[in-house]
Amino acid sequence: METFVLSLQIVIVVICLITICVIFVYQWSLFATRAPFVEIPQEILPDIVKTLDVKPGSVVYDLGSGDGRVLEACYKIEPDAKYVGIDKALAPYLLAKWKLRKLIKSADIKFLHKNFFKHDFKDATHLYMYLFPGLLKSLLPKLQKELRSDVRIVSCDFMFPDIEPMEVIDLGRPKGKRGRKIYVYKFIKIKV
Ligand SMILES: C[S@@+](CC[C@H](N)C(=O)[O-])C[C@H]1O[C@@H](n2cnc3c(N)ncnc32)[C@H](O)[C@@H]1O
Repeated sequence: METFVLSLQIVIVVICLITICVIFVYQWSLFATRAPFVEIPQEILPDIVKTLDVKPGSVVYDLGSGDGRVLEACYKIEPDAKYVGIDKALAPYLLAKWKLRKLIKSADIKFLHKNFFKHDFKDATHLYMYLFPGLLKSLLPKLQKELRSDVRIVSCDFMFPDIEPMEVIDLGRPKGKRGRKIYVYKFIKIKV
């Protein structure tokens, strides 16, 4: 009986420690990046996919890929493209790897646990992002330097400061909801 109670106590302590670790990693993920892990709503995924307009042979990046839902949705419509998700927070990176583990084995889709400022995007044909304007501003010089001029850039809800989007799609969602507007850019140039 004593052994059973001791074993039970050990199991409870281990479960508590694991729970604390998971909560810690998740909270750390939120504060370690200037764009916390907030996914775009499922219901606007078709709009994002349509706007990205991925073609066979495209190389599509999700900068801050979260749980990988955008790349998964794109893959379902266009399986003959290459998909790369990058996220520097551990929790969303692991979540994407777990959620899409079957697809990762069979398709040209991968997730990198990395800071996207340290990645070279010269092979990109399409970029998708759901990031705050501060991050978009910091990213701009890098993207202007690295991207080919025909790269299609799709940003959900937030604009690159001082840059005119090629297209603005209003999804007509109520104020306060996420995923209200999609901004499309090509060959980003600073207004002078
Ligand atoms: C708002 S979420 C977007 C998730 C997903 N793209 C979507 O649309 O559902 C932003 C993600 O960007 C990641 N992130 C922020 N800064 C980053 C950086 N410098 N490098 C890589 N990932 C970053 C965060 O960890 C977070 O998961």
